[in-house]
Amino acid sequence: GKVCLAYSGGLDTSVILAWLLEEGYEVIAYLANIGQEEDFEEAERKALAIGATKFVVVDVRKEFVEQVCFPAIQTNAIYENVYLLGTSLARPVIAQAHIKVAEENGCFAVSHGCTGKGNDQVRFELAFYALKPDVTVIAPWRDPDFFNRFAGRKDLLEYAGSKNIPVAQTKAKPWSTDENLAHISFEAGILEDPDTTPPKDMWKLTVDPLDAPDTPEDFSVYFEKGIPKKLILDGGKKVITEPVELFTEANALARRNGVGRIDIVENRFIGIKSRGCYETPGLTILRSAHIDLEGLTLDREVRAIRDQFVTTTYSKLLYNGMYFTPECEYVRTMIDPSQKTVNGVVRARAYKGSLSILGRSSDTEKLYDETESSMDELTGFSPEDTSGFIAVQSIRIKKYGEAVREKGNT
Ligand code: ARG
Ligand code: SIN
Repeated sequence: GKVCLAYSGGLDTSVILAWLLEEGYEVIAYLANIGQEEDFEEAERKALAIGATKFVVVDVRKEFVEQVCFPAIQTNAIYENVYLLGTSLARPVIAQAHIKVAEENGCFAVSHGCTGKGNDQVRFELAFYALKPDVTVIAPWRDPDFFNRFAGRKDLLEYAGSKNIPVAQTKAKPWSTDENLAHISFEAGILEDPDTTPPKDMWKLTVDPLDAPDTPEDFSVYFEKGIPKKLILDGGKKVITEPVELFTEANALARRNGVGRIDIVENRFIGIKSRGCYETPGLTILRSAHIDLEGLTLDREVRAIRDQFVTTTYSKLLYNGMYFTPECEYVRTMIDPSQKTVNGVVRARAYKGSLSILGRSSDTEKLYDETESSMDELTGFSPEDTSGFIAVQSIRIKKYGEAVREKGNT
């Protein structure tokens, strides 16, 4: 039968491809273009040379930005206070195209090179089963026939040699990476010691803040219903509106100013802790600008419900690979209604790794009233009203105070 393998062109998936052929399968190699830096032609040559029947690249960048990254901005999605979910966000889109390619090519099975200890295997496979419940999943790194035979990198290299699989001459990096338009991750290898500071040359998508320009760079982001619609750079000379381009320009802006580095020890879904270093340039900028605009335009209680429920739940569902589930579908319907009023523009500054807000305004939303908020004016309600407000609020608190004092006295 035919298997559709997520193929990266790297050593692991090349060995998996050869091994699947040896096991008697016909293999369709699939590679998503999700904005990673990649030599797609080289991957194609390699896949076909190893023996894949066909090599298919699917460009999913537009879906990725519009269907996943923008809602992540609208919800200010974040995991364990730090991680902007760059890898997690990419998984639903990659899995969706994977199943599509599998079906179009008559594959009964899909296969991937995720390790048996990570989140990605869970994310991909839960997505596969939601999108094609009868699919067979071949996960070589959890198959004893495979992992016993390829216990270490040495075994992989030997096998690659025996199968004439070209291995890149560059020395393997002492960490593993995963890249897309929103971020790159660095994990494993020397990073497994959580107290090891990553070497300067590890980082890829941002310049070292210490080497960033000495002149700050100012820019503006326009939002409509919480979605970034316009990025203005260069004092108004550069205006970007097309979503993928806007995201790419936000990346470039953050990159040259060293914005968006993260280093975290996080809790994986399967219950182990793991240290990761991430660069999330554009998303960091757009998300921070969005948070600022919500201050001006979003109702206090809508915001509280969204923060406590939608942001936390949606982030966790994304992290745990539960994107194609009834609960996530439900939570997604709550995003747009929360963003109806989030319209306006935020002016901000990127400078040597930091982001600061310079100002914000909205032509349509009038929740903020300068006169009302002013310390110098009395409008709308009288000072006596506020005395009543405090008196009523204090009923319960006085009771509490009395009880505490009574206990204290016994
Ligand atoms: N720990 C992060 C996450 O689970 C990044 C994972 C990177 N994945 C990878 N296959 N290298 O989302
Ligand atoms: C992997 O590639 O399987 C490890 C990273 C992860 O999925 O968390």
